[in-house]
Amino acid sequence: MDKQDKREKLKELYLEIRDCQMCGLCKSRTKFVFGSGSAYAEVMFVGEAPGKNEDLQGLPFVGQAGKLLDELLGSIGFDRSEVFIANVLKCRPPGNRDPQVEEINICKDHLMEQIKVIDPKIICTLGKFSTQLLLNTDKGITGLRGKVFRIDNHIIMPINHPAAALYMPSKMEILKQDFQKIKKLLDSGSEVSDSQKGISSLEPEDNQDKDEQLGLF
Ligand code: URA
Repeated sequence: MDKQDKREKLKELYLEIRDCQMCGLCKSRTKFVFGSGSAYAEVMFVGEAPGKNEDLQGLPFVGQAGKLLDELLGSIGFDRSEVFIANVLKCRPPGNRDPQVEEINICKDHLMEQIKVIDPKIICTLGKFSTQLLLNTDKGITGLRGKVFRIDNHIIMPINHPAAALYMPSKMEILKQDFQKIKKLLDSGSEVSDSQKGISSLEPEDNQDKDEQLGLF
């Protein structure tokens, strides 16, 4: 798909799902938060769910965590318009409670369609929920963050959720370093070769210092 096709397909998808009523969250939402950014981004970020500000504005990561995300993007030379930012859930859970399994299972099709259209090289999962969903694991974020996985033709890189870094300063430095890894990964032009496709095992690429073997970092 060329850039224009991706733009059109993403718009079609938006029009198709923006009135979604497949789970109860549609009743309490103010706005459906589809996601924002470039339809042909090389890097996609996937958070958890819209919060209060996102629900009001219909845009992802526009609150404090979003401000930090913008700064981190800036630190590696990106504007948010050049990446795509989405969430596991498109509607705000009341009171910002955690997403429920049923909600995730319903909403994940929307995210998968977005990934299919955008087809980013790198998907950065922000925090536990998107990481567990996209890596199909119940492992915690602490052990997974900063590692690199290859699923189909995407590189999945879990990192801490920016909101967690706001509350836990010890996570901030780690998050900054992980953003530098994203940059290195992109600069290395790391194409996923055919032979690497379809590795969905949860053994991270760097499990046995494979990062080095791959020349990624
Ligand atoms: N946290 C998220 O996970 N997503 C948002 O859009 C905002 C805050």
